[in-house]
Amino acid sequence: MKVKVAILGCSGRMGRNLIQAAIEHKSVELVGGSVRAGSSFENFDLGEIAGIGAIGQKTTTDYKALLAADVLIDFTSIDATLEHLDWCQQHNKALVIGTTGFSEQQVATIKAAGNNIPVILAPNTSVGVNLLFKLLEVTAKAIGEHTDIEIFEAHHRFKKDAPSGTAVKMGQVIADTLGRDLNKVAVYGREGITAERSRETIGFATVRAGDIVGEHTAYFADIGERIELTHKASSRMTFALGAMRAAFWLSEAHAGFYDMQDVLGFKDN
Ligand SMILES: NC(=O)c1ccc[n+]([C@@H]2O[C@H](COP(=O)([O-])OP(=O)(O)OC[C@H]3O[C@@H](n4cnc5c(N)ncnc54)[C@H](OP(=O)(O)O)[C@@H]3O)[C@@H](O)[C@H]2O)c1
Repeated sequence: MKVKVAILGCSGRMGRNLIQAAIEHKSVELVGGSVRAGSSFENFDLGEIAGIGAIGQKTTTDYKALLAADVLIDFTSIDATLEHLDWCQQHNKALVIGTTGFSEQQVATIKAAGNNIPVILAPNTSVGVNLLFKLLEVTAKAIGEHTDIEIFEAHHRFKKDAPSGTAVKMGQVIADTLGRDLNKVAVYGREGITAERSRETIGFATVRAGDIVGEHTAYFADIGERIELTHKASSRMTFALGAMRAAFWLSEAHAGFYDMQDVLGFKDN
């Protein structure tokens, strides 16, 4: 059976890819899509927004038009997502959140919503990136204590938050594996006379340029050798298709707070 999904924020870079992915995905049926109130894309054909030709379904600013959906998919902005989270709780709808940049307090709000509805918070919905998280855990366990760990990320010029949610999650996975508190060991950028690097720190470096879709590398560097684990996304469709997989998985889940590791079954072993 197909899961009925609606896309929130259809006119965005991810919104357009999500529409296309929902139309292409064999286990998903697209039943609606919203745009921001006052958007010039109100009442536009969803297929035309995605650049794949008219499909006879229009964007809306009225959430009531999305009630047919079992799962809503949200890659918008922090404020919009928190508003959508409230609506989903009021109407008992499952929600896949791809938006990034939430504060710890906002993440706590999203977690609490898991008491009422099924909700996934996924700062990166790519299957490859989530496999990378698993590889980071294995690598940190094997060599993390005696290597210098640094995380590099690069994204397009339009990205609003830094470091990326994925880079932060990579740091979190490594810190958790090594029993370190990321708030204490993270170093966000360096300048001037910084003194020697202390072993337990986890460094972050950010590039914002052009149309880079998303690149992440974790370095585990020793004297004489280093391991670099890299993921490069070349199309936003990878995130959009991962979000469809998440929506399908969430449609069968009980109320709770989940992530992509749950969706991909990486927590089972
Ligand atoms: N999880 C992942 O794998 C992943 C991958 C890529 C990006 N992201 C994240 O996804 C988010 C969106 O990224 P993007 O590159 O698509 O940004 P974007 O192009 O700026 O798109 C955001 C869209 O959200 C819309 N929006 C804002 N408030 C809204 C509301 N109340 N109702 C409906 N739509 C609303 C905006 O509409 P207006 O233009 O009219 O304001 C815009 O079209 C960011 O947080 C980004 O970091 C996550």
